[in-house]
Amino acid sequence: LAPLAANKVKITLRPEAERNQPIKNEDLVFGKYFTNHMLTINWDDKQGWHTPEIKPYGNLSLDPSTCVFHYAFELFEGLKAYKSLKNSEDVIMFRPDKNMARMNKSADRICLPTFESEELIKLIQELIKLDKDLIPQGKGYSLYIRPTMIGTSEGLGVHTPDKAMIYVICSPVGPYYKTGFKAVSLEATDYATRAWPGGVGDKKLGANYAPCIKPQLEAAKRGYQQNLWLFGPNKYITEVGTMNVFFAFKNSETGKKELVTAPLDGTILEGVTRDSVLTLCRDNLDPAEWEVNERYLSIDEVKERADKGELIEAFGSGTAAVVSPIKNIGYLGQDINVPLQEGKQSGKLTEDVMNWIADIQYGVVQKENWTKIF
Ligand code: COI
Repeated sequence: LAPLAANKVKITLRPEAERNQPIKNEDLVFGKYFTNHMLTINWDDKQGWHTPEIKPYGNLSLDPSTCVFHYAFELFEGLKAYKSLKNSEDVIMFRPDKNMARMNKSADRICLPTFESEELIKLIQELIKLDKDLIPQGKGYSLYIRPTMIGTSEGLGVHTPDKAMIYVICSPVGPYYKTGFKAVSLEATDYATRAWPGGVGDKKLGANYAPCIKPQLEAAKRGYQQNLWLFGPNKYITEVGTMNVFFAFKNSETGKKELVTAPLDGTILEGVTRDSVLTLCRDNLDPAEWEVNERYLSIDEVKERADKGELIEAFGSGTAAVVSPIKNIGYLGQDINVPLQEGKQSGKLTEDVMNWIADIQYGVVQKENWTKIF
């Protein structure tokens, strides 16, 4: 079967007169505007990967019986490209190899074809270069890249798709939340479950997202912006909204601090930002002061330690929002309050983590093997 080959790409440009012009930074809404071109690559089980095509952004045409519409043969990724703050000619992609590896794992799980990661990265770079003038500049602004794979077999039989398609679209974005870098309130949710052992919560499948909206609406009725997803009889904290989640504590006896996130046990999405937070905290925090742990943490432990004044910070992490500070958690009819810095929207560590990551993403600081600059 033919491998994915970036050097074969066929490029059709959108006519100049029909091209979108850049949107002002202040008018950007997450995922609303798209660039002028998209990438599509078809696959079938006889030939393998077909010639990749970059062409004007536009509709896909699929038979109504196509398996993606019926049995959710769909997976996606989210990654970003940044205009360097050091040299505005440079475009920086942040850890694309991680997204490609995860995309292949998602594909394998739902019997869609895997592909050569490096080749897709090269194709995405080609795509971005064509619309480079639509990448917004400045801290907080970037190009959100959405690689997607769907099963395109026609017919209603439930089986391994014999046809598939990768497509990649790009959206100029600013801060994920309309409120910007502002602490959010959560409702600890155990009446609905996001993921479970043996399930697919660790894969980036579209099917994991739609069922989370209703619990979010339920939480919103009670005044909370996002769900804090709990799992099992111990009410372990797993994720927040569509993000991984971190809690920081300071032991009142020893004075030692701990940053905690859930372990990758198959129910947790292997977030690229999650991994980046863990790595940078292990690199940058003084081990005499801090421990950085992937361990189970129950909502009851958070409540107990908040009551003792030991809860010092909490934040979500994801590509879209990068880090998202948390200010309170509704649990058993009461709010667990998370301290914020005086006059600010986040804790100190949350702010530091945000800056460490942003410095790498915008080319201010180099971190080996984490960026692709072109
Ligand atoms: C992210 O935080 O990067 C996400 O996956 C959210 C996305 C579904 C918009």
